Amino acid sequence: MPVKGALPSGVVIRPETAEDKAAIDHVIAAAFGDGRFMRSVRHLRRASHEASLSFVVTLQDKVIGSIRYWPILVGGRTQLLLGPLAVLPEHSGKGFGKALVAHSLSVAETTSYDFILISGEPDYYPRFGFEPASQELFLWPGFIEPERLQIKWLSEDAKTKAPAAAQAILPML
Ligand SMILES: CC(C)(COP(=O)(O)OP(=O)(O)OC[C@H]1O[C@@H](n2cnc3c(N)ncnc32)[C@H](O)[C@@H]1OP(=O)(O)O)[C@@H](O)C(=O)NCCC(=O)NCCS
Repeated sequence: MPVKGALPSGVVIRPETAEDKAAIDHVIAAAFGDGRFMRSVRHLRRASHEASLSFVVTLQDKVIGSIRYWPILVGGRTQLLLGPLAVLPEHSGKGFGKALVAHSLSVAETTSYDFILISGEPDYYPRFGFEPASQELFLWPGFIEPERLQIKWLSEDAKTKAPAAAQAILPML
């Protein structure tokens, strides 16, 4: 269902559809540039992204931002990886990134996943409940700046299942 409340007129957040692919590719390329091909997080995006948690923000029906989540395997259980989150540079700083994260998290909180991991800006995600994740416990596939690895627990109960020993973060194939 599209989200309109608290967004400017003409701006809508709605689930991503197959027809959005080219527009989303454009938004991600414009937001990240060529650096997107060098990030270790790409190793974790093998299976399809999680369609029920992937949203676009549109302005007059044009896609200007996107958020996707991917299933990952941690300790034998499927969990979530957030990203990429991208907003077209000409529309950045207007709250659309925050709206995409907040909306998708409100849906993620209704699922049975335990947590969401992200390789993300350490200044951006704590406002949504992300906190630093231990790189000794969560073994990232490749290089990641320590401060970028963050976790959001999706419930208090999930937090009690935090790993006591190192767990590899693996892609779903
Ligand atoms: C990061 C991004 C998604 C934010 O979306 P946005 O719509 O521009 O941001 P919003 O308007 O919702 O939020 C603005 C807030 O985010 C902060 N912010 C924006 N980009 C940031 C960044 N790269 N690092 C830390 N904070 C950032 C702003 O300082 C502002 O903070 P405030 O609310 O305390 O004033 C967008 O700028 C973008 O696509 N950047 C390039 C790609 C990228 O870095 N994606 C995230 C990777 S994890």
